[in-house]
Amino acid sequence: MPSRTVRIPIGKPDIGFEEIHAVDDTLKSGWVTQGKSVEELERAFAEYCNVKYGVAVNSGTAALHTALAALGIRAGDEVITTPLSCIASINPILYVNARPVFADVDPKTLNIDAAEVEKRVSKKTKAILPVHLFGHPVDMDPIMDVAEKYGLRVVEDAAQAHGARYKGRRVGSIGDVACFSFYADKLMTTVEGGIAVTDDAELAEKMRMLRNLGSDKHRKFHHPLLGYNYKMSDIHAAIGVTQLKKLDRYITRKRENVAYLNRELGDLDVRLPHEEDYALNVYYVYHLLLNGEKTRTIWFLEDKGIETRPLLSFIPEQPPYKREYNSKCSVAKDAYQRGFYVSNSPLLTKKELDFLASTLREALSRVRK
Ligand SMILES: Cc1ncc(COP(=O)(O)O)c(C=O)c1O
Repeated sequence: MPSRTVRIPIGKPDIGFEEIHAVDDTLKSGWVTQGKSVEELERAFAEYCNVKYGVAVNSGTAALHTALAALGIRAGDEVITTPLSCIASINPILYVNARPVFADVDPKTLNIDAAEVEKRVSKKTKAILPVHLFGHPVDMDPIMDVAEKYGLRVVEDAAQAHGARYKGRRVGSIGDVACFSFYADKLMTTVEGGIAVTDDAELAEKMRMLRNLGSDKHRKFHHPLLGYNYKMSDIHAAIGVTQLKKLDRYITRKRENVAYLNRELGDLDVRLPHEEDYALNVYYVYHLLLNGEKTRTIWFLEDKGIETRPLLSFIPEQPPYKREYNSKCSVAKDAYQRGFYVSNSPLLTKKELDFLASTLREALSRVRK
């Protein structure tokens, strides 16, 4: 694909003096592995989400794996989840040898639809794993109703939705446990990292053991559980503590960017990101669904220096999942085929936003039906 100088990269982390000082201080402190900064990040992030406990790990994927394992999800169990996400949302279901069952998404939000979830509940179903895609919260009340009706656990994947709200409540505070990613392109970062948050003390304790080789905290080198090495270092956590202080500012900027771009592009025949009445969307990226041929639009944008990405993955068609392809999920597939996204970085300048808006307008006006 022809690409000249990249003018609008898909994302870039906001690493400034504060983060550099935080890393410097940690390196000089004599303690660099999991320690005080990890505890501080766990406390502060749990408080931000309005939950009691945070368990920091070294990726969002590790958080999901740890959460599913701590809930006791295992071989023979089914977990109902979305077909449209980053594959990292779903892989942990296979890591615990359970079976993902895909339920189609709501065309308005691209998030898992509770009515579709209920249709797929079986005797083997143990959990629901909704993903707050692109920062828009899932309509959680109907999901929680299905969970209650059938006695299922709910694991929120909030990897792209730090700070988003559902009916005023922060995502992460609704299910049994919620998992966030702190990867470099996320709403806030520790470079690589993640966290699971919960109000359940027992679950939190089990996740703490699992992330550290299943270790008994009172007895050195005794391992009651088969655990993993998913610990976060204090170097990464120190960056996270700093970033968390900026998170609300990032969210404000992202929401302003989208308001501006939607105003500029609102008259075109394209589906733009939006927000349901119950939601505060944190707009992780700026995603669009076309009503016509997509490839030329992508080429046009890339040629002008605007990086694009596909609408993540339609998971049932990814090779590790083909044998699990248990329902059609036509809404998700259609969205995947029509969609792509560009940056919604809080660092975009007014000039860059103008360029993004005018180039998108030019590209979208050329879309052939
Ligand atoms: C929706 C979703 N879930 C899970 C993950 C996994 O996070 P990580 O990359 O930190 O493992 C990601 C991130 O890329 C994601 O976008």
